[in-house]
Amino acid sequence: MKKLRKIIIDTDPGIDDAVAIAAALFDERLDIKLFTTVAGNVSVDKVTKNLLKLLAFWNKDVPVAIGSDRPLLREAINASDIHGSTGMDGYEFPESKYELLTKNHAVIEMYKVLMDSKEKTTIVGIGPLTNIALLLRIYPECVERIEELVIMGGSLGRGNQGALSEFNIAADPEAAKIVFESRVPLTMVGLDVGEKALVLSKEREEIQKMNRTGNMIDHLFKKYRGGSLDKGLKMYDGCAIAYLLAPEMFEVKETYVAVETQGTLTAGATLVDLDGYLGKVANSRVCVDIDEQLFRQWFLEAIEKCS
Ligand code: BDR
Ligand code: CA
Repeated sequence: MKKLRKIIIDTDPGIDDAVAIAAALFDERLDIKLFTTVAGNVSVDKVTKNLLKLLAFWNKDVPVAIGSDRPLLREAINASDIHGSTGMDGYEFPESKYELLTKNHAVIEMYKVLMDSKEKTTIVGIGPLTNIALLLRIYPECVERIEELVIMGGSLGRGNQGALSEFNIAADPEAAKIVFESRVPLTMVGLDVGEKALVLSKEREEIQKMNRTGNMIDHLFKKYRGGSLDKGLKMYDGCAIAYLLAPEMFEVKETYVAVETQGTLTAGATLVDLDGYLGKVANSRVCVDIDEQLFRQWFLEAIEKCS
């Protein structure tokens, strides 16, 4: 089958990152050229190790470039309360594929992939936006080479890190501001859909016995605190991949999004200006709703494709 899209995944695995990575790696319509890592859920060393473990588990050879070990200006925060102290607690992975590590920093490797490819490349950002902001600042010519930047981050309303801020944006608001103001074709897949993209006990029961990936992911789920086993586990990052592969399950609005960096109580909030109060030209496509049932179906089919 024809590969539809060349993509780079910038990630901080992360249990929901692991689900997103599984879905992307085993879908024939995506051609993953590079993974880059960024400090987020836990330190960049830990998330890189987690990614290399996942790639060893699946025996997949995609280059991995280590990226930023801290936000642009602020002290790092983390989400070890959600993903465990390793960032991906719950499963004993036998090894890591260290040979996949590139020599250069993530930003340089991203630049090379973007510039060396004949077709444009899509970037999927499912961690804080530090690497992507640096890429756009150091190599502004990349904007023309990016087909679409799909980010999991932000929210139309309430937050999950602060009252109004989502974790990936709150972790590095200045980077997010650079990205939203960069004029890159940007799609925001935020909390409004992530919180509805639930894996319920029915799906968990199915994946446990589906295949070894389903079994591994179910072990991670037992330690995941993004939602709850009773009420459903929130597949925030999986939504970014679902958006690439099955956009029909999302309702999307084109609008202007500003990132708050000054507020003493609201830094990291995304101001999604649906009613045009700011009188600005749209800079984003924002996912405002998701068909929850279609998502659950998509999740099961995605895990079924994995080995
Ligand atoms: C985001 O924060 C992280 O903990 C998850 O991996 C996801 O990328 C959700 O707010
Ligand atoms: Ca993540």
